[in-house]
Amino acid sequence: MSEQKLYYFDNNATTRVAPEVVEAMMPFLTEHWGNASSAYQFGHQIGHHLDEARAKLAALLNADPKEIVFTSCGTESNNAAIHSALALNPEKRHFVTTSVEHSANLKYGEFLQRRGYEVTYLPVESDGGLDIHLLDRAIRPDTAIVSAMWANNETGVIFPIEEIAAICRSKGVLFHTDAVQTPGKVKLDVRATGVDFLSLSGHKLHAPKGIGVLYVKRRTKFQPYIVGGHQERGRRGGTENVPYIVGFGRAAELALAKIHEEDTRVRALRDRLETTLLSTIPNCARNGAKEPRLPNTSNLAFDFVEAEAILMMLDQAGICASSGSACTTGSVDPSHVLSAMSVPPMRARGSIRFSLGVYNSDQDVDYLLNHLPPIIAKLRAISPLTATHPDNDKFDLAAARKQHNEQATSV
Ligand SMILES: Cc1ncc(COP(=O)(O)O)c(C=O)c1O
Repeated sequence: MSEQKLYYFDNNATTRVAPEVVEAMMPFLTEHWGNASSAYQFGHQIGHHLDEARAKLAALLNADPKEIVFTSCGTESNNAAIHSALALNPEKRHFVTTSVEHSANLKYGEFLQRRGYEVTYLPVESDGGLDIHLLDRAIRPDTAIVSAMWANNETGVIFPIEEIAAICRSKGVLFHTDAVQTPGKVKLDVRATGVDFLSLSGHKLHAPKGIGVLYVKRRTKFQPYIVGGHQERGRRGGTENVPYIVGFGRAAELALAKIHEEDTRVRALRDRLETTLLSTIPNCARNGAKEPRLPNTSNLAFDFVEAEAILMMLDQAGICASSGSACTTGSVDPSHVLSAMSVPPMRARGSIRFSLGVYNSDQDVDYLLNHLPPIIAKLRAISPLTATHPDNDKFDLAAARKQHNEQATSV
């Protein structure tokens, strides 16, 4: 591992485990390693710490602790909610979700389709927003559940969760939201929003990877996804992961305490980064609506260059960011989120997501702002799609420019 300082702008991918979280977990990896289900004191007393952690997660969501089910990750929570709704309503074979969900939903949808279920993937608008009239129309008498993310991991765009929940309620359909990207960034209140299920993942809020939560609204019938022991009130089998649950509890407490900081200091850092890049780099545009949006996320398109090349050069400078594109067998597929927003492939392929967090400083943003513009300039100088490259006659530059200008006017 290199000694180079890390400039981390990829908090939507994963977050650093907070030192306070490590401190809270340590006793449960060293002295208090018993099984919470044991009859004797040494194990049994651990149950009290699980209760405390559950209460902290409940406070983050304004839920009742009994409504909190610990799982292994956000993916499991999403799968479990959808699975339960379909398993308990066997006559209902239709599932509604959106085309910009995480693969935890999209791949589960494909899995269901292979088993004969019908899945509607709702389109989004060019700014990443959801037309709730389309959602309203997509719900059918045989729809078992609707699942729509609270905030998008690539663009940060926030969906109107309260309105979606109201539509689902009025039609007697269960509603699940993937809120994995939201804790500590937006205020979460399951009572006010009226969702039936909600997913969280520890590693997005400074707890370790491998711990998640599924909120299950009181009196909602639930069919476990992982069947086994009586843990989690019979809703999720498997011996409780005590250190991680305790750490997740501490992280939830910190997220709740730092929401104001994220909404002010982190938002100001993100806005400075975004406005500076947009105003200093030509042919650069934001993907997704300016608002409503997570305060930490900025997804920017740099025309005429490939995101993978930008990321490699940023990496050499110790800067971590990401693109939503997937590299499969040597070809780079543009992000499914940007494609669903009708961002043209050329623009999508040059898009980078910067996601900040409470550990980012003004100096980090200065460092990025010093390094990124020369990287883009250098790559454009050798890009076959820019005006100055000697190989330009081999490419349809006029078509690329026309496409670019049309996009620029529609943003
Ligand atoms: C919106 C969203 N949902 C679900 C997940 C999956 O969470 P986990 O990694 O805990 O399975 C992620 C992770 O990137 C995510 O961003």
